[in-house]
Amino acid sequence: MAPERSTDSRIGAEDIRRRKGGVPIVCLTAYTYPTGRMLDSHVDLLLVGDSVAMVLHGHATTLGASLEMMIAHGQAVMRGSARACVVVDMPAGSYETSPAQAVASARRISDETGCQAVKLEGGVDVSSQIAAIVAEGIPVMGHIGLQPQSVEKDGGYKIKGRTQDNIRALFRDAEAVEKAGAFSVVIEGTMETVASELTRHISIPTIGIGASGDCDGQILVIDDMIGMTVDRVPKFVKQYADLRSVIADAAARYAAEVRSRAFPGPSHVFKDEA
Ligand code: KIV
Repeated sequence: MAPERSTDSRIGAEDIRRRKGGVPIVCLTAYTYPTGRMLDSHVDLLLVGDSVAMVLHGHATTLGASLEMMIAHGQAVMRGSARACVVVDMPAGSYETSPAQAVASARRISDETGCQAVKLEGGVDVSSQIAAIVAEGIPVMGHIGLQPQSVEKDGGYKIKGRTQDNIRALFRDAEAVEKAGAFSVVIEGTMETVASELTRHISIPTIGIGASGDCDGQILVIDDMIGMTVDRVPKFVKQYADLRSVIADAAARYAAEVRSRAFPGPSHVFKDEA
């Protein structure tokens, strides 16, 4: 059952598709009810990314995400938001085997969260999955270039578009995702000029991350952007706040006040009225 806070006045996948070449589309990841609430009025699209497995659950890669995990976080973000287009990532292992497997997983995500769309990684290799999900009436966002679910297969996080062969493969992937009916596509970790050319080449909006300022929109992982990431922050991230320092400072002051019995003070305890 989809969460109750969803409304019909949300930005939909078709609204995003129509933004091609216009004012850049603002996207951030979100995984929780409070971030859904705080980000909703500032962004066009919230992605419940499978990066949640690393960012909130401490897994080494996004391969730690499960369908249940994505659905639980998707429900939380839907409860917290009312306006943004919410896209939920399909985790590794939930769609690669066949179009039928992909449709069953996308149907679960869509029905149980009420999200506006799902996202999956891949190009030519998953085009039949994208087409099958779209035929079911569930909008799909593609994801090409650096694909974190393939990091073990690729031997690390490797920037794409450095060789002519790879550039040709990226164009084939972008064309396949577009032809399969995706409403937009994330381009991650790809040489700037290639991401710009891809944006000009296809008719659906491109959402860049470590790609190019020419993309039709941009996305960042929220925890990277606000300085909450405890491990390495990628080069392409701009940090707009340093919440780790704010939290560390608050925790240190609290610890000192508990140890000195300064907390709780008179206003933090209940006493009978005189
Ligand atoms: O999982 C995720 O957060 C993503 C974005 C980085 C695009 O796929």
